[in-house]
Amino acid sequence: MSTILDPWGHFAIEKYEKLFKQFGIQPIDTVLDKLPIKHHFFTRRIVFGHRDFDKWLDALNRGEKVAVLTGFMPSGHTHLGHLMVFEELKYLQSLGVHVKIVVADAEAYAVRKLGRRKVIEYGLEYIRHAIAWGLDPTKTDFYFQTNNTTPYYRLIQMFSRKITKAEFEAIYGEASPGKIVAALTQASDILHMQLKAYGGYKHILVPVGADQDPHLRLTRDLADRFAQELGLRRPASFYHKFIRGLDGNKMSSSKSDFAILLLDKPEVIKKKVMMALTGGRPTAEEQRLLGGEPEKCTIYELYTYFLLRNDEELKKQYERCRRGEILCGRCKKNALKLLLELIKVHQEKYRELLESQIVEKHVNIPDF
Ligand code: TRP
Ligand code: SF4
Repeated sequence: MSTILDPWGHFAIEKYEKLFKQFGIQPIDTVLDKLPIKHHFFTRRIVFGHRDFDKWLDALNRGEKVAVLTGFMPSGHTHLGHLMVFEELKYLQSLGVHVKIVVADAEAYAVRKLGRRKVIEYGLEYIRHAIAWGLDPTKTDFYFQTNNTTPYYRLIQMFSRKITKAEFEAIYGEASPGKIVAALTQASDILHMQLKAYGGYKHILVPVGADQDPHLRLTRDLADRFAQELGLRRPASFYHKFIRGLDGNKMSSSKSDFAILLLDKPEVIKKKVMMALTGGRPTAEEQRLLGGEPEKCTIYELYTYFLLRNDEELKKQYERCRRGEILCGRCKKNALKLLLELIKVHQEKYRELLESQIVEKHVNIPDF
């Protein structure tokens, strides 16, 4: 039996390459040449796969109308995993593209069973972090799923006619009312910007974690089925690997001991980093002899994703580890120093945004 990717499960993807064959996701290598700026997420294959991203880049180069849409479920505090999407969006904005971000508050309420208050609070926190990380607020729109305008909801209602329960189950494994509504809402998130009411047709790109691909498959089918009636077209997408938590499993705010939360205090970050799972050997002696295993190491992953943007420096780090020239204690301290610098600047910007209440003024916040 083929595995079903479950966007609502807490899973780890063992082999990302499997997704190429099984679901028809394209390896990212096929677009590297087309990228105007080669961000390390792409060259290091952290963004490992895509659908039609090459076509989207062609449209961008031809000067056609393009846009980026992504979203997140506000079910906990913002952590390093979320920074990955912010980083991708910042990159796409540097290419001059307009970005729209949806706060999936309806999804969090229905699927994660959180209270509305909490969900809205987490949503605002996420928006502040996105701006603090450097998204240009004048080139970014934010909206809550429960607070869009009429045509967006009309789309959800119309979508419901052209998808069967069996198709839904084939993609998601289970078809509960909450999941059906959440999935159709996400399809409308992705496609509504193509409607006249939102400026008319544009090529949409969706940067997300690999677990979101089922939603893209559904959305692409729906776009085909509404091509005639509404002029909808398939979105493009690209997929990143998950950053692992410091225990080696998927980072999640529900396991906050192993996640770096963006508002963690320095002492807390220090504690978490110091107990992180590494690729070190049981004794210092063995490590000097055999070298460490950076491939297994969550600290090395931090270096790769965020802490060492320079390829030469990363390579040096890799080799020193492999050759046993550095031990994990010192290596963790180096990582900690870099991480704390990064977080400090970020938290300062976050606090400014909190004090100025800018987000509260510019985002339409649901009233219940
Ligand atoms: N389901 C996404 C998540 O769990 C959130 C989301 C809602 C989303 N609508 C979207 C992501 C549209 C990308 C595009 O994080
Ligand atoms: Fe990880 Fe550094 Fe230890 Fe190597 S030396 S296993 S990179 S912590």
